[in-house]
Amino acid sequence: MNEAAPRKRAQRRTTSRRRTSAKTAGAAQIVARDLCKTYVMGGSEVHALQDVTLEIAAGEYLAVTGQSGSGKSTLMNLIGALDQPTSGTLTVEGDDLGRLNSNALAQYRNEKIGFVFQTFNLLPRTSALDNVALPLLYAHDAGDAKARARASLERVGLAERANHEPSALSGGQQQRVAIARALVNEPKILLADEPTGALDSKTTEEIISLFESLNESGITVIVVTHELDIAARAKRQITFQDGRVVEDRS
Ligand SMILES: Nc1ncnc2c1ncn2[C@@H]1O[C@H](COP(=O)(O)OP(=O)(O)O)[C@@H](O)[C@H]1O
Ligand SMILES: [Mg+2]
Repeated sequence: MNEAAPRKRAQRRTTSRRRTSAKTAGAAQIVARDLCKTYVMGGSEVHALQDVTLEIAAGEYLAVTGQSGSGKSTLMNLIGALDQPTSGTLTVEGDDLGRLNSNALAQYRNEKIGFVFQTFNLLPRTSALDNVALPLLYAHDAGDAKARARASLERVGLAERANHEPSALSGGQQQRVAIARALVNEPKILLADEPTGALDSKTTEEIISLFESLNESGITVIVVTHELDIAARAKRQITFQDGRVVEDRS
C-alpha cells in the first residue's frame, strides 16, 4: 500500500510532462476524436470512417494511404469542412468544426485550408492568374487580388504563364496553378487528394518537391496517395483500411 502511492505520483508526473512538451512543440493543430462518417445508400449503410482518433501537429507532412474506398477522401473532406461527420469531433486550431455555423465554416475553408484535387478543377477559358485570384474574390478581398495571385503563381514557379488558359498548359502546370490557387489565402493547412494521380512520373516529382518546400515553409501538408514511393517522402504515413487507421508510422 505504501509503495503504490509514489508510483502513482510518478505516473502523474510523466503524464503532465508529456502534456507540457506537446504544448511547447506547437500542440496538435488537427484533432479527430472518434470520428465517424456513415453514408446511407439505397437503404444500406456505408461506414466510410469508423472511430478515427488522430492528432496532427502544425507543420507536419503527412501521407494518407490505403486502398480505394478505405476512407481517405472522406477524412480530407471532413478536415476541409466540405462535409460533416456523422458523429465524433474534429477540432482545428481549437475550433470544433461541428460548432461553427455556415458562415464561420466558409471563413474557415477560405482562410485556413488550401485544397488540391486530382483533376485540378480549374475554370476553363480563364487565365491562370484569374483562376488563382478566385478565392480572393470569394473572400471579398479583391483589392490587391491580381498582385497576390501573381505572387502565388511565382511561388509555384509559374509566373510567366499567368495569362495562359488551362487548355494551353500541361497537366503539371495546371496542377501548379491549382496549388497556387490553394495557397493564395496563405492557408496553414494544405490538403491534396491524389494530386499526382493524373500526372506522369517526372511531373509527379516536381509536384512532390513543391509540397516539400511548402512544408519547409511551415505549412501543414496532408497528401492522399496510393503510391507508396510518394507516401515514403512524407515525414509520417497513416494507412486506412475499411474506414479505420490501421497503421501510423513516422
Ligand atoms: N457521397 C457518398 N455517398 C455514398 N457513399 C460514399 C460517398 N462518398 C464516399 N462513399 C463511400 O465511402 C467509402 C469511403 O470512400 P472514400 O473516402 O472516397 O475512399 P477513398 O478516398 O479511400 O477511395 C467508400 O465505400 C465509398 O463508396
Ligand atoms: Mg479518394
